[in-house]
Amino acid sequence: MNKSTNNNFSNINIHASAPGKLTLFGEHFVVYGNSAILAAINKRISVTLSPNKSNSINIKFGRRKLAARFSEIKSSKLIPRSQAFLYPVLNSIASAKEELSGLSGLDVLIESQIPHGEGLGSSAAVCVAIVGALQSLVHKEGKANIFEAASQTERLIHKNSSGADCYASTYGGVLLFGPNFGNKQISIKGKLQFLVCMTGIKHKTQNLVSKVKRMKDKNPSKFSELAERANDICFKAKSAMITGDVYSLGNLLTENHKLLQKLQISHPRLEEYIEICMNSGALGCKLTGAGGGGAVIALLPNQNNSDTLLRIQNKIPNSMLAELDYKGVHLDQSLNSEKKF
Ligand code: MEV
Repeated sequence: MNKSTNNNFSNINIHASAPGKLTLFGEHFVVYGNSAILAAINKRISVTLSPNKSNSINIKFGRRKLAARFSEIKSSKLIPRSQAFLYPVLNSIASAKEELSGLSGLDVLIESQIPHGEGLGSSAAVCVAIVGALQSLVHKEGKANIFEAASQTERLIHKNSSGADCYASTYGGVLLFGPNFGNKQISIKGKLQFLVCMTGIKHKTQNLVSKVKRMKDKNPSKFSELAERANDICFKAKSAMITGDVYSLGNLLTENHKLLQKLQISHPRLEEYIEICMNSGALGCKLTGAGGGGAVIALLPNQNNSDTLLRIQNKIPNSMLAELDYKGVHLDQSLNSEKKF
């Protein structure tokens, strides 16, 4: 909508939801312009925006709450680090302030099914959902706009973000992200079943990305050799997905994990989980996302996998089956009849 349009913000709730993701191949290398393969999953973050007339902004995100005068929202830079979870929300609202000029106040309710700090893309999904909701409120259309604004917002949390997580969360599906391919959806033959085994060991993506950068700066030729191998794995994995060759795909996952070990971003608990999964019949296994904790993904055989699943879940109770999501960001509206706070 153009900025001069007279917005009527009353009587509607805007809903937006965005999926988390698994990085199947190429994390960290993608930060330096290499390729990665990501899959959006059936765990979402949803945002509900309800315009209010009380000149206040009220944000509720799980057990965390923030209330402020709406007219005082300027930029996330004013918010202390302890409230970092609010950066995407406040920054997105501050950036859309001109378009929201007809609005006196806003209630923002954020609900998440995505385990936080496990490398499953919860930060990116918050950015995509809040940006999607705001753009829908001001009648701005299109996933390309959402992706652009969400990836800029994500860089407030993790300044060297490749944008891959926001891309997966915006568009959904399984996709190849990177300059060599130009961000393409991969159509998979058959099905892919991943078990996500969570260590509960929280990490900060930014710290892990900085650690890899130090390694890269210290030994650039070693890093480019690893990056070349990671790119090659992405190419082969794409072909294996298209032909439905889950056995090759499993081996490629394990091979990719070995490169991540060389970047020194694994963790003893991740190694322990990988061993359990492989000894229980998984076809391949690796850490997913930034590493240093977080989760392991295990590719399950497509047939007769209940024994494998049971054996793993007996030893790693904090695990979940991930289904693929093909919807990406989803927007809708309803009448603003219920009280959210
Ligand atoms: C984090 O989910 C994935 C990383 O490759 C960082 C990024 O792509 O921005 C570690």
